[in-house]
Amino acid sequence: MISFDYFRSMASAIGSQGLEDKDLEREILRTGQTVWNLPRFGFCELPYADPGRILHFAREQKPRNVVQIGIGGSALGATAIASALRPREGARYFALDNVDPEETADLLDQLRPEETIYHVVTKSGETTETLSTMMLALERAPVSRFVVTTGSKGFLRRFAQERKIPIFDIPENVGGRFSVLSPVGLLPAALLDVDVETLLAGAREADETCRKIDPHRNPAFLLAAIPYLLDRLRSKPIHVMMPYARALRDTADWWRQLWAESLGKSPSAGPLPVLALGATDQHSQIQLYNEGPNDKWILFLVPERYRSDPVVPSLLSGEPACDYLQGKSFSEILRALQRGTEDSLTANGRPNATISIPEIDARALGALFYTLEMATTIAGTLYGVDPFDQPGVEAGKRAAFSYLGRAGYPPPSSPPAESPYRV
Ligand code: PA5
Repeated sequence: MISFDYFRSMASAIGSQGLEDKDLEREILRTGQTVWNLPRFGFCELPYADPGRILHFAREQKPRNVVQIGIGGSALGATAIASALRPREGARYFALDNVDPEETADLLDQLRPEETIYHVVTKSGETTETLSTMMLALERAPVSRFVVTTGSKGFLRRFAQERKIPIFDIPENVGGRFSVLSPVGLLPAALLDVDVETLLAGAREADETCRKIDPHRNPAFLLAAIPYLLDRLRSKPIHVMMPYARALRDTADWWRQLWAESLGKSPSAGPLPVLALGATDQHSQIQLYNEGPNDKWILFLVPERYRSDPVVPSLLSGEPACDYLQGKSFSEILRALQRGTEDSLTANGRPNATISIPEIDARALGALFYTLEMATTIAGTLYGVDPFDQPGVEAGKRAAFSYLGRAGYPPPSSPPAESPYRV
């Protein structure tokens, strides 16, 4: 389903900036036992079959517009699914995952409530951005157009119960950024007629592959160990995911949060995840990746087939700049651009690797989500951090409550200092 080729991260391909086989073997000896005895985390225990109630709810609704009101792990996975997998014709997905005044007002004013389902998602049930947006949406649409997905505690569950809004659950032991294959992502997917059962089947298959005991054949272990070792042994603390399909850009954005919030921990763990899009960013980032500081690992994400694949027509004959393109499919051109980039990075001793999927479809996406969640969890073990908490986000949240005057949060003790450096 998913293949991971890391040859171009190894010294045999790129020279001294790559890893030696012995580096990997040493890591397997150091961490093997821990990794193979990993407990089944909450996200492993999600029901990867029979999304019965979700499908039933979706069949009854069939809305034109699905608006996901949530932030972070409560939005990015749903957005990744909606971008990668084509919704039913005419159906549209929107994420309101920011309190951007213009974006929020423009979208809510433009949608007709009777054609729209507002899916409010917050595990804590109390997130500022999500509740502000929900309140604005409630002013414009009746409660009958709302559905919520939330944790067992918090305001949102109480509110939904009181107003008889349908509730779906985020299990307590599934963290926000690991929740894409819970109702957080599956409900909007089903509302858009995405094949939810196949998405889950892909995750189920990946679960088997990710539990392979032989670390050399386990993509989740290798997707954790290779970037970890490159970071620690070859000073590559920047990890770039570069899909060659716009439909996968939001999947890389989802991974960016997963990698950052799970691994960026005190005192000093934390590779910097970066998102780039091929071929577009070849004309924006590759100069830096090829000749700037050699501190990056570039992970290409490539579908082997594309769902549409036009061919360059036989126009402009006799023009050397155009002749060689005639009759070539766009996928052939994109593949050549990606290989060219791969080759140039390799020649410059820049470690890179490729995840290939057969096609952008529900099965591959389910497998990709699960494999990357598992890889992130294993990377947490290698870095020696808890991949499931996010204490660094809390201080900012509390300060915002103070600024906004939430009861129980004292107002900021002194006004923000005047900046002496503002011109
Ligand atoms: O991964 C996480 O836990 C976070 O990104 C949360 O998803 C995000 O902060 C939103 O939290 P909540 O779902 O409680 O609104």
